[in-house]
Amino acid sequence: MTKLFTQAIILFSIIIIHLHVNASTMKSVITESPMSSPKQPILIEAPMPIEAEYLASKLKNIQIEHSGYFTFYIGTLNNYPVIVAQTGKGLENTAAATAIAIEKYRPIAIVNQGTSGGHDPSLAVGDIVLGERTVNIGNFKTPHKKKNEGSAPLSWIPMDIMASKGSAGESSDAEKIRFYEGSPMLLTSAMAVKNLYTRGKVVKGTIGSANFWNNEIDRISWFHQYFGTSVEEMEGAAAAMIANEYNIPMLGIRVLSNNLTNDGKYDPSTAKDCQLYVLEVVKHYIKTL
Ligand code: 5AD
Repeated sequence: MTKLFTQAIILFSIIIIHLHVNASTMKSVITESPMSSPKQPILIEAPMPIEAEYLASKLKNIQIEHSGYFTFYIGTLNNYPVIVAQTGKGLENTAAATAIAIEKYRPIAIVNQGTSGGHDPSLAVGDIVLGERTVNIGNFKTPHKKKNEGSAPLSWIPMDIMASKGSAGESSDAEKIRFYEGSPMLLTSAMAVKNLYTRGKVVKGTIGSANFWNNEIDRISWFHQYFGTSVEEMEGAAAAMIANEYNIPMLGIRVLSNNLTNDGKYDPSTAKDCQLYVLEVVKHYIKTL
């Protein structure tokens, strides 16, 4: 009887140990499964509310976070995490919002989008430029001029602030233009859905950024000729620079809301059309991940 009882105890213990081992193995399988690791979001940046709100309204499961001047709409698009960042205008805001978003949300890719002014007379208001290249068009060194010799902006020399850690004022290796290449994968997605955009053309080009709104046709033509710019705006180059510093794929997508070179009048309704197109680009990109 006692023997039988002892055997029953042993059997019971074996079953308990077995169940316990199984449970802990399962637990480790669950926590280590790649399926359960969170996906890295896609970050879409927009300077102004008219450039962000339509995009944000298309996200599901939305949560809003604020950080300083910036608003982050955190949600999903086709079940994939997407964050729309309203950065505010200009290079400084964009650089700061981009760095904060990278540190906080670890995006897998960044799209910087919004309106722009045409530098290329062959582009109409409503056309879209994909930033095959992005360049800062506010970084210059001026040639020397003496008192009362005036200022000649068309003779200014481009300056690469990332050329070296030394003084850009002294070294001539800083006297060059730095272009940031748009992400080939994002460009491929943007080209794949370009026929869904019906308001105008979608072309690859060069996006120039500075805290400047240029209304001098000769200056615009000079940028177009020497920097190859298709459009100008105030954010893309900052996003491209910070994304590059963190090694994150980035693409600028800019609709022309105005083009002085061919009398294209300012039309703010272009901002929404650009967002519609950007949504298609991002949906395509998600499918490639
Ligand atoms: N020059 C500079 N920025 C422009 N923008 C639209 N058109 C132009 C232009 N011609 C965009 C900028 C900024 C806001 C003023 O509009 O990117 O966000």
